[in-house]
Amino acid sequence: MEAELPLVLDHRSRVPLAAQLVGLLRSAVLNGTLRPEHTLPASRRLAAELGVSRGVVVRAYEQLSGEGYLESRGSAGTRVAVRPDGRGTVTEGVRTAPGADPAGTIDLTPGRPSGAPFRDRDWRAAWRKAISEPVDVELPPALGMPALRTAVADHLAASRGLTVSADDVVITAGTSDALQLAVAALRGQAERPRVLMEDPGYPTARRVLIAAGATVLTLPAGDDGLEASQLAAIDSLPDAVLVTPSHQYPLGGRMPVSERLALLAWAETNQVVILEDDYDSEFRHRRMPLPALASLPSGAEVVLVGTFSKSLSPWLRCGYLVVRGTSGQRLRNARLDLGTPVPGMLQSALATYIAGGGLARHIARARRQYAHRRALLLDRLGGRAGLELAALDGGLHAVIRLHPKVPAERLAEEALGLGVRVVTLASYFAERTPENGLVIGYGAPTDLQLARALDVLTGLIDRMAAGAQQ
Ligand SMILES: Cc1ncc(COP(=O)(O)O)c(C=O)c1O
Repeated sequence: MEAELPLVLDHRSRVPLAAQLVGLLRSAVLNGTLRPEHTLPASRRLAAELGVSRGVVVRAYEQLSGEGYLESRGSAGTRVAVRPDGRGTVTEGVRTAPGADPAGTIDLTPGRPSGAPFRDRDWRAAWRKAISEPVDVELPPALGMPALRTAVADHLAASRGLTVSADDVVITAGTSDALQLAVAALRGQAERPRVLMEDPGYPTARRVLIAAGATVLTLPAGDDGLEASQLAAIDSLPDAVLVTPSHQYPLGGRMPVSERLALLAWAETNQVVILEDDYDSEFRHRRMPLPALASLPSGAEVVLVGTFSKSLSPWLRCGYLVVRGTSGQRLRNARLDLGTPVPGMLQSALATYIAGGGLARHIARARRQYAHRRALLLDRLGGRAGLELAALDGGLHAVIRLHPKVPAERLAEEALGLGVRVVTLASYFAERTPENGLVIGYGAPTDLQLARALDVLTGLIDRMAAGAQQ
């Protein structure tokens, strides 16, 4: 049923029109005027009725979808997604995202991006094109389909200011696949390649590197990553170093330019290949991203490891490498030997989607959603006694450092009992004494779910801190 909405906007107000519309629609949901059986008018029609541009209505619908009040159902329109009390989300007939928890647990595990683009018009059109093209009887090219390699090169130029040619791009099945390939390439020189990682770091990378046959060494990383002085003190050199300079994972800082240059100089002198995991640099909230290591002038061998897991969805299993120089040739050879694990149909659809601007539009929408959730985190947790909020400059996760009186392990256990899943900071530490804290993924939950989860966490933190005092 389409909603009849008595909406009046004040065109002379200082409050932006989209914000006014958000406020009116949110109140209409909360007071029951708009109910789950209602569909919202198409954006173009509502815009005409209100005398505003369509972008105003689209932005308002997007914001309320991000907050969890509305749900966009592609060509079936936008509908109300919560009951009048703003609490129980409507589940009847609503398709949940892949991996959504059927028990209703709010999952704040990091690494899960905002609503995948799978209901986008652009996405569907790209797939329609991919499946209607003549099917090739050959295997997809080992290094990736030329159209996708070109689209990735163009995307990197626009989003990262990185000048690469399509020939420098190798399509992968995501970071885990890229790391396996890197070990395969390094095995040409060393039976058991040694890869240095940051501690804390990405546990999956550690697991994958070891499974692929590498020996993993670690160095303590601060919020901004590894420091050159530590590298200089290493006596037994690795073959490669895996770093997250744009957004240290999980602590969230960014490696300063001076440290970047020092890392490059060390790698060049010692012939260590740098694997630059650039997993979420599309999402900077406060500061511009610094130039990638791969774009700085240096004689060091740098391999940029990119993924669509954060900018689109980990469900796709697709990413890319930017390879150059000798290490690049070795990586190419390894891929040529092993073949591509990425289906041609997916590569073709993704190429169309990126080239048509779908990815850029999706990232812009997701960025706006993350900005709300980041603001929500700051609002609920910023300046609160007994905890410190960090890693909020970019990406889709935050770190909560906790007072020793509130042990993270127990907090996570009790939160799960109350329907909120969180991950402890300790699980990212390999050899160092772990810090007491949580890593909160805020990409996937709606604003309403995040607000509810934060209420649960702050309630538990207050109770545990008070209990410890007695
Ligand atoms: C540090 C880091 N790098 C890369 C990725 C993406 O991995 P993949 O491309 O294998 O999905 C993630 C996902 O959570 C991550 O946390």
